[in-house]
Amino acid sequence: MAFNKRIKIKSLLESDFVGQEVTLMGWVRTKRSNKNVSFVALNDGSTINNYQVVADPTIIEEDILKRITTGACIKITGQIVASQGAGQSSEISASAIEILGDADPEKYPLQPKKHSLEFLREIAHLRMRTNTFGAVFRVRHTLAYAVHKYFNDKGFFYIHTPIITASDAEGAGETFKVTTLDLKNPPLNEDGSINYKKDFFEREANLTVSGQLEGELAAMALAEIYTFGPTFRAENSNTTRHLAEFWMIEPEMAFYDAEDNQDLAEDFLQYVIRYALEHCQDDLAFLDKRAAEEEQSKKADQRSELGLMERLRFVTENKFERLTYTEAIDILRNSNPNKKKKFQYLIEEWGADLQSEHERFLVEKHFKKPVILTDYPKEIKSFYMRLNEDGKTVAAMDILFPGIGEIVGGSQREERLENLTARMEEMHIPQEEMWWYLDTRRFGATPHAGFGLGFERLVQFVTGMGNIRDVIAFPRTPGSAEF
Ligand code: 4AD
Ligand code: MG
Repeated sequence: MAFNKRIKIKSLLESDFVGQEVTLMGWVRTKRSNKNVSFVALNDGSTINNYQVVADPTIIEEDILKRITTGACIKITGQIVASQGAGQSSEISASAIEILGDADPEKYPLQPKKHSLEFLREIAHLRMRTNTFGAVFRVRHTLAYAVHKYFNDKGFFYIHTPIITASDAEGAGETFKVTTLDLKNPPLNEDGSINYKKDFFEREANLTVSGQLEGELAAMALAEIYTFGPTFRAENSNTTRHLAEFWMIEPEMAFYDAEDNQDLAEDFLQYVIRYALEHCQDDLAFLDKRAAEEEQSKKADQRSELGLMERLRFVTENKFERLTYTEAIDILRNSNPNKKKKFQYLIEEWGADLQSEHERFLVEKHFKKPVILTDYPKEIKSFYMRLNEDGKTVAAMDILFPGIGEIVGGSQREERLENLTARMEEMHIPQEEMWWYLDTRRFGATPHAGFGLGFERLVQFVTGMGNIRDVIAFPRTPGSAEF
């Protein structure tokens, strides 16, 4: 006999089941009892809302009632009845309860009280059972779905680019090596260096930092593609916005120039955020309140002026501000924090790399809306970005979001072979290894462009979670790979 004959609480709350006999399964959040009756708040993951189970001690045995404790998993059969109490319109009057899994109240770490996010990170195997993390992961799912829906509806094709690669041409950060060599006793070349010819791939290999280069190959055939996969960066940055393993969405389009690229990125971001606003109302309402409480504990000058929902609507309803790097440098140079030496890195001249303090100043203080910064000096950007006519800047774009900083990085690509190889030479990128990439510029090259969206930064923005470790199920960061 099939076991899974349950109704999800989400469905139960969406239509009228009063009078029907149903089965529910889920985890106990709380129980309160008096002499005559026990009330159990049940959560089954389908929604943030709990459902009230009414257990009458004349029907449900005492031994079972005792085992209904916070965290236990139970199966309830009973009739849906109109609720007498406030807070819910219906409830289930249990005719039978089965304990599927006990949770010893002396040992179960999650109690019905507020736990700190830091503590919950230490028990990441259980934290999804809290309201906050349940909401975050339902929103994360919805955003991932919206990403696929957006591109599918536009006729883009989803390409799975490799996770193990032999090139680090991107230069996006330190890579993690992939090897099967014996680390204690690796085969050596005559000069003492490691002989990777004896390794699994007969060459050095690493985990990918980006699917872009392979994405470009696909765009030269399918025209409009995107990737959505894990990427890995061994940079030792212990910040609230960096992970060693994160997910990135990278569309790549033939026949797009820099402006087409900006238009797509803006439309895409607004679409996925609007999609979450429409489809995650209960979870976002909860996260909005959570974020507001967190704001209260911050110093007045660090609080954001808008609440979470207001921020989301603001981004979906306003055009992003577009300006060049050169214009941004002028604004920053003349800004108060620069003049008063409040920036940690003072902006003195054109060419300076922008730090997150500068990005956040532009977005949060100066424009107070998302910003698309374009046309950066070539020296501070990747080799594949298209050189502008001035010979100094490239057709790059970074999109900066309030509270997050850089959320998207992208560019029009250099499709002119000579320019590309000249740039590679300047940056000491070996061309032999990149023969396949250069072939796209040899055969049927066309203007094309693309960008990368850090998925966790998007989830952070939409959920209002301050730390990127709280929007991925099992974060990988320096010194931490538990679970
Ligand atoms: O700006 P990045 O390094 O760009 C690329 O990798 C390009 N290949 C993208 C492309 O044009 N196809 O990274 C893109 C985005 C950043 O804007 C940021 O949102 C996110 O990826 N990101 C990270 N997210 C979490 N942890 C990290 N360590 C991240 N590094 C980058
Ligand atoms: Mg970047």
